[in-house]
Amino acid sequence: MKPVAISGTGLYTPPLSISNDELVECYNRYVERYNSEHADGIAAGSVAALAPSSSEFIVKASGIRSRHVVDREGVLDVDIMRPRIRMRGDEEPSLMCEMGLAAAHEALERAGRTPADIDCVIVACSNMQRGYPAMAVEIQQALGCTGYAYDMNVACASAAFGIQAAADTVRSGSARAALVISPEICSGHLNWRNRDCHFIFGDAATAVLIEPMETATSANRFEILGTRLLTQFSNNIRNNFGFLNECEVPQRRWDDVLFHQEGRKVFKEVVPMVSELMLAHLGDLGVDPQAVRRFWLHQANLGMNNLIAKRVLGREPDEIEAPVILDEYANTSSAGSVIAFHKYHADLTAGDIAVLCAFGAGYSAGSVVMRRY
Ligand code: COA
Repeated sequence: MKPVAISGTGLYTPPLSISNDELVECYNRYVERYNSEHADGIAAGSVAALAPSSSEFIVKASGIRSRHVVDREGVLDVDIMRPRIRMRGDEEPSLMCEMGLAAAHEALERAGRTPADIDCVIVACSNMQRGYPAMAVEIQQALGCTGYAYDMNVACASAAFGIQAAADTVRSGSARAALVISPEICSGHLNWRNRDCHFIFGDAATAVLIEPMETATSANRFEILGTRLLTQFSNNIRNNFGFLNECEVPQRRWDDVLFHQEGRKVFKEVVPMVSELMLAHLGDLGVDPQAVRRFWLHQANLGMNNLIAKRVLGREPDEIEAPVILDEYANTSSAGSVIAFHKYHADLTAGDIAVLCAFGAGYSAGSVVMRRY
């Protein structure tokens, strides 16, 4: 088995963004309208009045201040409250393909590689734009890579699962080099009318290039010392969207096919699961957690990230040890930990140890331990 490296990362950030204040202003207009339309029911006690949201709550509960989105107008239009995305013909590139492609090109460029060097493309993310053909095969063709491509979905942990799949593939010699691409259009599965979660998600795409250490030339490469994955079934983060929705009798409620969660339970159950996974993984690799220079954690919630890092380190992490991109990007599902990696790795020096750790629905969690070349 040959040692493998992450030799380049890429990031696509949609140019549009929405601040908490803009989001809350729209949500609260929706609440006023709903409450006035249901005034009689609310007065009679048969309808529950909706309560307003607030920017202060959002920052305090999550650390999120804004989010990038593929469409602002639809989300901020109280009559629509969802992104409006032009339907494209079968001959046009899909939106996920476009976003993933931009990230992939940057990863290739940073690694000093061209599409001809890649023969495995994995799209690893929470939602696919269609059933088939696989998004990865479309991106493979758009890049001009030979070999093979496939999609995988392990929710917010998808990038870590994709990195393990790619690392194993390259280690075994099944592919010379592999790209793991995570295009996330979270705004499309977010319920913008649910106060408990309307602020949580944003859109972005990332890419990670994996190749053998012996052929990697990028000055920024990280040797993968080990990967470890864990899953444990839970209904606490769920989205019932699927190909049988139209066939189901009776039909599901409109909001059952969007993201919904028991946020408190997720917090309580995922923090120990993820910190124990990282501690065990580091222990088995003979790495003292205190020697880890950087944690690129899934960006779900600031409190959650801090607590996970604290359990691993045995003390509060500082912003350099566990960088945060949540404030600008919100939760971008599988892209989050890779965005943190992409933006905050250049200062690490040869021999520094770092961990990328992603977690989410499933439950699912993955840890990737690396050493800076
Ligand atoms: N504005 C103002 N108040 C709000 C609000 C909003 N947008 N949303 C909820 N509240 C209120 C609640 O009604 C509740 O009021 P109460 O105390 O009177 O009942 C109070 O604020 C606390 O709500 P709660 O849902 O318990 O907040 P929280 O501190 O648990 O934070 C999350 C909510 C979702 C941010 C948090 O649970 C979380 O991040 N969990 C991790 C799960 C996660 O990130 N999953 C993503 C997939 S990996």
